[in-house]
Amino acid sequence: MLEFKNIFVKVEEKEIVKWINIAFEKGKNYAILWENGSGKSSMSLTLAWSPRYTISSWEIWLDGKNISHLSPDEKSKLWIFLSFQNVPEIPWIFLWEYLRTIYNSSLAYKAGQKNQDFRPLSPFLFSRFIKKYLLELGINEDFLQRELNVGFSGGEKRKIEILQMKLLAPTYIILDEIDSGLDLDAFKSVLSFLTSLKTEEISFIIVSHYFAIFDSLWIDKVFVMKGGRIVEEWGNELIEKVKKEWFKNF
Ligand SMILES: Nc1ncnc2c1ncn2[C@@H]1O[C@H](COP(=O)(O)OP(=O)(O)OP(=O)(O)O)[C@@H](O)[C@H]1O
Ligand SMILES: [Mg+2]
Repeated sequence: MLEFKNIFVKVEEKEIVKWINIAFEKGKNYAILWENGSGKSSMSLTLAWSPRYTISSWEIWLDGKNISHLSPDEKSKLWIFLSFQNVPEIPWIFLWEYLRTIYNSSLAYKAGQKNQDFRPLSPFLFSRFIKKYLLELGINEDFLQRELNVGFSGGEKRKIEILQMKLLAPTYIILDEIDSGLDLDAFKSVLSFLTSLKTEEISFIIVSHYFAIFDSLWIDKVFVMKGGRIVEEWGNELIEKVKKEWFKNF
């Protein structure tokens, strides 16, 4: 279980997240909804340990262990993946090398945990392996020679994030506005790829403004965030009702 306990977050003396208590069970899917500026990204970014944020309570727990002070790479080794709302561009890191490195590192780490021998996938085999996924996501192979996210469109950046999830197979996947920058076809292909990643071990935590995501992915619980707080929680049984109420307001 991934838990945020008594979290307050400040940026430049401004209190942005005010007292969050929230728990995510392994294997269940969650949505965090509501309006611009309600603090959804700030809450998600506490996991990435951004130096811009001052977190007043260091209480982010995973399966009974306080992981708040771990660095981002150590958190990712606990199979927590954060997909940013604004995906950064990283010059001089080439996509093919980056993807191969994270894939082989994750295999090496998993083998190490089980005391097994590890042999990295050769460049040749990795190229064959990755091209299959590029095809599924509708990404041209030429992208492999480009610098990571540099000049990629919003939708292309999203797809590369999804590809990383596929390679790393994390347990807790936090998706901050995965729908932004995607046209309808790209949104559908990203959603079907996400659905294909889903196992009983994986939890999606989806930050969004829209209900469209509920049509493709089973959501167990919805948290409504306003003014830096969670103000409501709905179980799946309430989603249909809330969707109708929500649309009535427009
Ligand atoms: N560096 C900063 N300085 C001042 N205010 C900030 C800073 N970073 C974030 N904020 C403010 O904190 C509030 C919450 O921002 P956050 O990005 O978490 O909202 P959000 O719910 O993710 O919004 P959106 O739906 O638009 O993505 C906003 O009012 C934002 O302007
Ligand atoms: Mg946001």
